[in-house]
Amino acid sequence: MAKQETPVHRARGLEGVVALDSSLSFIDGKKGELIYHGYDIFDLAAHTSFEEVAYLLWNGRLPDRRERDELMQHLQTERELPPMVTDLLRMTPEDANPMAALRTCVSALALFDAEADAHSPEANYRKAIRLTARIPTIIAAFDRLRKGLEPVRPLRRGSTAFDFLYMLGGEEPGSAAERTFDTCLVLHAEHGLNASTFAARVIGATLSDMYSAITGAIGALKGPLHGGANIEVMRMLLEIDRSGRDPVAYVQEKLARKERIMGFGHRVYKTLDPRAAILREMVEELSEERGQRKWYEYSVKIMETMEREKGLYPNVDFFSASVYHMLGLDSDLFTPIFAMSRVTGWTAHLLEQWRANRLIRPRAEYVGPRDLKVKPIDER
Ligand code: ACO
Repeated sequence: MAKQETPVHRARGLEGVVALDSSLSFIDGKKGELIYHGYDIFDLAAHTSFEEVAYLLWNGRLPDRRERDELMQHLQTERELPPMVTDLLRMTPEDANPMAALRTCVSALALFDAEADAHSPEANYRKAIRLTARIPTIIAAFDRLRKGLEPVRPLRRGSTAFDFLYMLGGEEPGSAAERTFDTCLVLHAEHGLNASTFAARVIGATLSDMYSAITGAIGALKGPLHGGANIEVMRMLLEIDRSGRDPVAYVQEKLARKERIMGFGHRVYKTLDPRAAILREMVEELSEERGQRKWYEYSVKIMETMEREKGLYPNVDFFSASVYHMLGLDSDLFTPIFAMSRVTGWTAHLLEQWRANRLIRPRAEYVGPRDLKVKPIDER
């Protein structure tokens, strides 16, 4: 058989391949620049809330006060879970992987949404809001149930950050904690065609529904090479703390064993990820405030060692881990919290995909054997 003649542009892991057009975000990996729909991430982190960013991603412009309040209200009214999904969480083993629990519950949400398979832009917009509103409730209920506590129903007021921290801890959070957490949500909302977003768009491009696409995206985000890295970062910091080891020697030994240091390196950034720069400042402030300067000090030592030994810089997962830890969140919730923010980017990509849909279907270069003949089964 003749070799496949179609031109093939191959790159392991699709490195550097531009697969589609998007107006949602731009990354300059050499300069360390990140823009959401025209706005620099530093500007957004300093001057907008998570809800404003969600509006920007879904509508292509920042909301005015009335539009922001309307979206906020819509999110508040959608926060309650269908009772069957709470029941499902009650049946979930307490040692379940939180990302597996989230993935399962997001898939189950579709069963209780009359619009699950409706494909109008309006229905899809409503589903984007619904998913963004309910994911925090799922994460908080899961966490409480596994600790033997009753889920706390959403207050259905305030921001996503406020109601999530309330549902998780059962007490209204202080404004500093709310603001810090809100900024983390802003920073994680969107990041181009990363693995989970690409997975969502591939699923969406078959004209499957939004719940299927977000379920798939959560599955992709779970991996330690993607969103799962933040859990591993905290595991490393806690291990350094517990053992009293010098962070520099700890990292050097890991590198000598050819192990990866989670929270470092990036497919696109070849310099400091701007989100890591913002989060680093947050870690410094929080660790001062809470009298836990050790997390900042370990992190800086690890960062300097990685730059010196490998020329690698921290990504978003490195400093977000200690921010969440100092906010009192359990390490294994860090990736679900990432999903809680990134769902806005995923759904924005789906809305964009469906505005001019085309099936995403690349090809593989066939490198297997040819010209084999099937022998009868007893002769093999
Ligand atoms: N620790 C140690 N070495 C590393 C690391 C790391 N974290 N990341 C890359 N390297 C090394 C590789 O071993 C390789 O070295 P070599 O050329 O001597 O073999 C070189 O740097 C290039 O690495 P690649 O794997 O080719 O880079 P790639 O672009 O494929 O990887 C990735 C990007 C997967 C993020 C990688 O840097 C990594 O595994 N990092 C750790 C996991 C992580 O933090 N993931 C979160 C990414 S951000 C996000 O998804 C939200």
